[in-house]
Amino acid sequence: MNVRYGIVGCGAIHNVHIESLRKIEGAAVSGVYDVDRAKACESSDKHGVPWAPSIEDLFDRCDAVCVCVPSGMHAKLGTQAANAGKHVIVEKPIDVYLEPARALVDRCAKQGVKLTCISQHRFSSAIRRLHDAAGSGELGKLLQGDAYVKWYRTQAYYDSGDWRGTRGLDGGCLMNQTIHYIDMIQWIMGGVRAVQGQARTLTHDIECEDSAAAIVEFRNGASGIIQSSTSFYPGFTERLEVHGEHGSVVIDGDRTKLWQIDPEAAGQGLYGGGVMQQPAPNIRLAAQAESDDDGTSEWGEQHRLQLEDFTQAIIDDREPFLTGTMALEPLKVILAIYESSANGGRRVEVS
Ligand SMILES: NC(=O)c1ccc[n+]([C@@H]2O[C@H](COP(=O)([O-])OP(=O)(O)OC[C@H]3O[C@@H](n4cnc5c(N)ncnc54)[C@H](O)[C@@H]3O)[C@@H](O)[C@H]2O)c1
Repeated sequence: MNVRYGIVGCGAIHNVHIESLRKIEGAAVSGVYDVDRAKACESSDKHGVPWAPSIEDLFDRCDAVCVCVPSGMHAKLGTQAANAGKHVIVEKPIDVYLEPARALVDRCAKQGVKLTCISQHRFSSAIRRLHDAAGSGELGKLLQGDAYVKWYRTQAYYDSGDWRGTRGLDGGCLMNQTIHYIDMIQWIMGGVRAVQGQARTLTHDIECEDSAAAIVEFRNGASGIIQSSTSFYPGFTERLEVHGEHGSVVIDGDRTKLWQIDPEAAGQGLYGGGVMQQPAPNIRLAAQAESDDDGTSEWGEQHRLQLEDFTQAIIDDREPFLTGTMALEPLKVILAIYESSANGGRRVEVS
């Protein structure tokens, strides 16, 4: 069985969807559609796939739809695809507001179609190992989980599309750029209970924030910091830092930079073994770093892995690795930071 994918929106990211789907056994790209016909034709020429004159025509020729349009249209177009009986992949974020995002999740459930939202970094080996180590208690009780995304975008970047930096269609650096790392840190730490945040526009002429910081209270009682910016020249690789009672892990640009667990903790029988069963920190780090070389930190490969999982979920009739409901979590955290910031940084619960 080949799952036939139709792509809605032929901008920058749709190329990654087409190139990824082409590498997946059991997947095929059956058409592209864009409200700007010239873009659909350009994509058709570039990738050798048919362009559809209308979204209905695209739906007629596919089983699943990749929604690659501006973020504030994800839920609307995803719902349209679900109503046509198509499985749905939306790019991140699931939407910029909670109500349409929840409606999309509900509609997909009612229609019996599968839904995922791209959060490709969850498919990097370094991130998955950290998630598993945090969940299995390897780091001991979790104390702190931080996400630092100090990026740089020019004004020309924001001017390159009339939706960029707008509240209704994009959001700011939290919603567009840092959402990946907010999703990962909340996933690794087991969910966010509350935030206190500040979001500001420092260096760009845009409606939304280009810099934000938040203190995070995770559900397990651990604390965290979310730092987000598109104003920090020259831009830095993003970092996740997780500290548990027995050790710390730092992931920088999806690669393990530090993985250090106190050997004494193993000696106390906390892992059911003696000191010698816990590898020396430098050996452990080297092993982790080596397995980061499996290609899963490369741009494109993570999309391929997520789209492959989704294709297999359709074929096997199971839930995808990342469901629509899971994709609501980072959105709720960001909206809570916005609410906190608008109210002088007061504590806001993430419900
Ligand atoms: N996962 C990632 O790392 C990643 C990276 C980049 C972008 N994205 C996400 O992908 C989405 C698109 O980003 P982009 O950079 O490709 O944007 P873009 O502006 O390059 O492309 C958007 C395309 O959507 C088309 N479009 C707009 N309204 C439409 C409609 N109603 N029907 C059909 N087509 C429509 C536009 O004509 C345009 O071609 C955004 O939500 C963004 O957050 C994700």
